Amino acid sequence: MAVTAPHDGSGTRSAYEQRGWCAAPFELEPELLASVRSRVEAISRTARPEVVYEEGSDTVRALHGCHRYDEVCAALVRHPAVVRLAEELVGEPVYLYQFKVNIKGPREGQEWPWHQDFAFWAHEDGMPEPRAVNIAVNLDEVHPANGPLTVLSGSHRLGLVGDGAAESGDDWRSHVSARLTHTVPEEVARALAVEHPPRQVLGGAGAVTAFHPSIVHASSNNTSADRRAVLFLTYNAATNAPAHPKRPAFLVERDTTPVRAAVHTG
Ligand code: SIN
Ligand code: MN
Repeated sequence: MAVTAPHDGSGTRSAYEQRGWCAAPFELEPELLASVRSRVEAISRTARPEVVYEEGSDTVRALHGCHRYDEVCAALVRHPAVVRLAEELVGEPVYLYQFKVNIKGPREGQEWPWHQDFAFWAHEDGMPEPRAVNIAVNLDEVHPANGPLTVLSGSHRLGLVGDGAAESGDDWRSHVSARLTHTVPEEVARALAVEHPPRQVLGGAGAVTAFHPSIVHASSNNTSADRRAVLFLTYNAATNAPAHPKRPAFLVERDTTPVRAAVHTG
């Protein structure tokens, strides 16, 4: 499989439109990165519904909606370069739709099967169109053995290719576990990979990558001794809010006020 480091100088909007993902032209500042990492560690030790564990284990798999209860995470949502990137790629004012940190513990972090995020947002939440963007911030170095995100480059232009299932009615936990509800079958992903080459999204801690709601993506188990934590900020166009979301607010933010960029002080 071809491997592409994120900082390949390929630009932003045109690369994003063509491939469905791109590297950001900036990194998170080391001080902010350190404080986000320490908040993530502190939140991971708390017991609350937003903290999700690997099945049958006490290894933390993900944290959700941290911007709603942690001020460093809330400040990150307003980070000027991040907001500018989201607005540039979506093309209009945006609000924060979803905030999550996926943590793959050393040797224990489990896979994410092939899927398209827009399948969840459309079928579960009623998001009208894929006019949103995921901004991924590496909190750890992401390398080939700790379960990097793998995207099928250009597959965002195909629309939804998976099960086409209507609203599942499933418990939201099946949207955040290694056994997902709306997947792209392995054989479909394999066939798509012929024309849409798989790319591992690698990079150091602090690297930032954007990817499209419809891009087909997955990530494998963490087989290494290194943790892989990646923070995902999903911004949605302010004119594209789901009318009647039902999932918990820590998975689907109800406040659709466009984000105003602000520099974090302290
Ligand atoms: C996702 O698909 O939402 C996350 C995948 C990952 O954390 O590797
Ligand atoms: Mn996803």
